[in-house]
Amino acid sequence: MCGIVAYNGIRQTVPILIDSLKRLEYRGYDSAGIAVFNGNAVEVHKDKGRIVDLEKILPAISGTIGIGHTRWATQGRPNKVNAHPHTSGRIAVVHNGIIENYQQLRDWLTKSGYVFISETDTEVLAHLINHYYDNNLTDAVMTALKDIKGSYAVAVICGSELVAARKDSPLVIGIGEGENFVASDIPAILNYTRKVIFLDDLEVASIAQDHVSIFDTHKNAVQKTIHLIDLDIRDAEKSGYEHFMLKEIHEQPRAFHETLAGRISELEGIIKLDGLNLTEDEIKNMSRINMIACGTSFNAGLLGKYLFEQSTYTHIDVEIASEFRYAHSSPGSLVIVISQSGETADTLAALREAKSSGCMTLAITNVMGSTITREVDSVVYTRSGPEIGVAATKTFISQLCVLYLLSLYFGKVQGKINSDRMKRMLASLKQIPAQMTRILNNKELIKNYAQKFASSNDFFFIGRTFNYPIALEGALKLKEISYIHAEGYPAGELKHGPLALITKDVPVIAIATKGATYDKMVNNVKEVKARDAYVLAIADEKDNEIEKYVDAVIRVPATEEMFSPMLSTVVVQLISYYIAKARNCPIDQPRNLAKSVTVE
Ligand code: AGP
Repeated sequence: MCGIVAYNGIRQTVPILIDSLKRLEYRGYDSAGIAVFNGNAVEVHKDKGRIVDLEKILPAISGTIGIGHTRWATQGRPNKVNAHPHTSGRIAVVHNGIIENYQQLRDWLTKSGYVFISETDTEVLAHLINHYYDNNLTDAVMTALKDIKGSYAVAVICGSELVAARKDSPLVIGIGEGENFVASDIPAILNYTRKVIFLDDLEVASIAQDHVSIFDTHKNAVQKTIHLIDLDIRDAEKSGYEHFMLKEIHEQPRAFHETLAGRISELEGIIKLDGLNLTEDEIKNMSRINMIACGTSFNAGLLGKYLFEQSTYTHIDVEIASEFRYAHSSPGSLVIVISQSGETADTLAALREAKSSGCMTLAITNVMGSTITREVDSVVYTRSGPEIGVAATKTFISQLCVLYLLSLYFGKVQGKINSDRMKRMLASLKQIPAQMTRILNNKELIKNYAQKFASSNDFFFIGRTFNYPIALEGALKLKEISYIHAEGYPAGELKHGPLALITKDVPVIAIATKGATYDKMVNNVKEVKARDAYVLAIADEKDNEIEKYVDAVIRVPATEEMFSPMLSTVVVQLISYYIAKARNCPIDQPRNLAKSVTVE
């Protein structure tokens, strides 16, 4: 989605803005622009297309204060006029979010004599700030924002003043020496500083070269904590891989290991989850659990449902966040929200709905300080490091890791998992990173199969129980990055309709690892083979039966039935990646998609 950067300091701002914007490219965008105060006036340069295209049209500009933006069109087409920054008089604005009452404000401002040139809601904000401006930018921004309904993260310059504010859209302030930064996403400024202030909703920051003042809505000064960000800049670089996605797939053993680290003792059969603020009594008496998420995080939640039901024998609901917010949630139940970014607007809205209904809330997320983490009762972090590719990979694996830990922990507290079983499960879980590495070492074989499918138009991924969410995830990955139509199905459901689509031209990936439903899965494989589909099975290393029924097999190490989804995940990710690569698709930034979806 849209990205914001801003700078006020002692250095030339243009190279810093451009470098920081490039670090936000992964979020997805269709146009980009900057505004710089050159000592006399604000110069604005923007265009449709990529940041490298913007760089080509930039004249030499001298100035040490500026704002920059990558736009992902919501209100108004992706073109030069609609690109940010937007200006009004001496004011220049970049904005993420949606101004819901923009039409009323636009009508009112038009009557007051302001002329609109774009189709965007952001231009309203520029004129509104100009309207209220009386030699104090902070006051003008504060007054203008009081008129706004909707969500925003904004950075505004007027002469040598820089002001930033947020509501329901992320924004951080980077603290440097004689220079300060603003960004919608930490990786944008990691090259310059690791000290950040997380702005909270409705706060407004005045950012000078050597100090930052933050105010609440009544203009009272707010004291904020400066956080030291412990991220490696290399996490936000490709480090020799052709795509971030491939790098992040390879980082999964480490991400999984980091997510487990310090949280388990397999010798004692103990799980300790930092950040889980639920008492044992609350867990014992838990009557209802809802998992809520979108996209890949939803697929993790669906697997979470199977895991919790297996460990606690309790029924779990899992729901798409954008639908849950209209559903009834019962007070006293636990709502688990899963979100890699911690900023997804649909998930945030569902969380707020759940809180207002009196539910206990727990988040599984990867981003410290993100909005969701600040609104829930408990947070258990995944520790994947920043994920840059739009297609979620390593964060999915870490989400699964946390769901395994939570479900086993709940089962133990509720007395449904004994100590011996716990020790056995934890010992198996510890093997997973090494087993993933074995699959990664076999990627040439997966690549060869994937290349066979590069010209297919339709695809099916099928699985049962624990493997069904991975079938969904495989199909989602393939759709996102290769633009091939793909369906993920519970294998038993094919005969109720989708079997009509199976022909020799529709490859089927059958996730057929050993487990309670293996025999039924084999029957489903026979059904699709009988319709001439090419079937590629993902099966255990020791399974000598499956090859009789399928065209090809990719092997994964044998593990506990409930842990095998993590290994199959690596295979479906690599299949999707290599198909997209063979089709020459822009893998890290697929069309129409954004990394963090901050609009509903
Ligand atoms: C995953 O590959 C997608 N890009 C997308 O489905 C994503 O999982 C979804 O938007 C939810 O994001 P979140 O985990 O940051 O909330």
